[in-house]
Amino acid sequence: MIEVENLTKRYGPTLAVSNISFNVQEGEILGFLGPNGAGKTTTMRIITGFLSASSGRVRVSGFDVAEQPLEVKKRIGYLPENPPVYPDMTVNEYLAFVGRIKGVPRSDLKKRIGEVSEKCAVANVANRQIGKLSKGYRQRVGLAQALMVNPDVLILDEPTAGLDPKQIIETRELIKGLAGHHTVILSTHILPEVSRTCQRVVVINQGKVVAVGAPDELTARLQGYGTVLVSAEGPAPEIIGKLQSVPGVNLVEPREAAESRVTLEVHVEKERDVRAELARAVVESGWKLFELKTSGMSLEDIFLKLTTHDLSEGKPAPENPPVQQDAAPAEN
Ligand SMILES: Nc1ncnc2c1ncn2[C@@H]1O[C@H](COP(=O)(O)OP(=O)(O)OP(=O)(O)O)[C@@H](O)[C@H]1O
Ligand SMILES: [Mg+2]
Repeated sequence: MIEVENLTKRYGPTLAVSNISFNVQEGEILGFLGPNGAGKTTTMRIITGFLSASSGRVRVSGFDVAEQPLEVKKRIGYLPENPPVYPDMTVNEYLAFVGRIKGVPRSDLKKRIGEVSEKCAVANVANRQIGKLSKGYRQRVGLAQALMVNPDVLILDEPTAGLDPKQIIETRELIKGLAGHHTVILSTHILPEVSRTCQRVVVINQGKVVAVGAPDELTARLQGYGTVLVSAEGPAPEIIGKLQSVPGVNLVEPREAAESRVTLEVHVEKERDVRAELARAVVESGWKLFELKTSGMSLEDIFLKLTTHDLSEGKPAPENPPVQQDAAPAEN
C-alpha cells in the first residue's frame, strides 16, 4: 500500500532522512517511532506530497508521489503535527470547507460531515468555534478533517501529543478502530503508544531506520538471552552452583542477598524456557523457593538501546546489539 524506497532528504547541510526504506501493508497500523529530530515529520510530509525528497521514492497505492501527486493526495488523509485549523470557523464550517477543497461532492457533504463527526466524537461541538475548543477536541477535529475524503491512507503525525491521559486513551481507541478500513502511519516518540496501538513499528533515529518489527518481536529480538530472577532461601554459593548446572543456563549472578535469602539473575539461552527446571533444582535440593519470574526488557529499555548514541563519537554505543533490519536494505 505504501512503499518507501531509499528515501533521503537534506535541508541544506542537514541530513534529515538518510536512505530509509519500509513498506506498509493494506489495513495495517504502522508506528513510526523515534526521538525528537529523528526525521518522522519530514518522512511523513514527503509521503503526503507536501515536501519533495532529495532522492529515493515513495509510492502510495502504486502511484509515485513525485510523479502523480494529485492521485496520491486524493487517497491520503493527513493530520499534521500542528493541524492548520481555523480558529474563527465552527467545526461544521471547517469540515465543510475541507470537504469542498478536497472535492467531496456537494450532495454528499452533509452526510460525510455527520459520519466523521460521529466517528471522531465531535458532533456535540459541531457549532462551536474551533479556537474555543480544548486541545483534545481540536485534535479530534484534525482527525475528522483527515477522514473527510474517506482516504485509503491516513498519515497521523503525533496524534496524541499534548493530550491529557483520558483524551490519549480515547484517541488511541479511535485510531485502533480505523485499522482494516484505512492504512495508517502514526508517528510518536512515546513508546507505550506503539505497543498499544500499532501492529508493526519502524524505529528511526537520526534519519536512519534502526529497527523494524512487531512491538513484542522487537523485544524478543533484542533480548539476546532471557533472564530469570530466582529468589530462594539457602546457601548462596551452593544455589548458584546448582542453577549453573541446569542445561540451558549460561550464567548465574547474585543480585541481592538479605540474611539467608538470595535473589539471583539467571541468564539463559535464547528461546529456552528453563523455569520449571530451575524451580525443581531449588526445591529438590531442599531450599525454599520464594519467587521465580522472567525479567524481560521493556520496550522502554529497547528504545534506549536502539537510540542511545555516543554523541562524542557519533556512532552507536558499543553495547548496542546488532539489529536486523527487515525492510531496510544495507546502507550504500
Ligand atoms: N525546514 C527545515 N529546515 C531545516 N532543517 C529542518 C527543517 N525541518 C526539519 N529540519 C531538521 O531535520 C531533522 C528532522 O526533523 P523532523 O521534524 O523530521 O523530526 P521529527 O522526528 O519529526 O522530530 P519531532 O519528534 O521533534 O517532531 C531535524 O534535525 C530538524 O532540525
Ligand atoms: Mg515531528
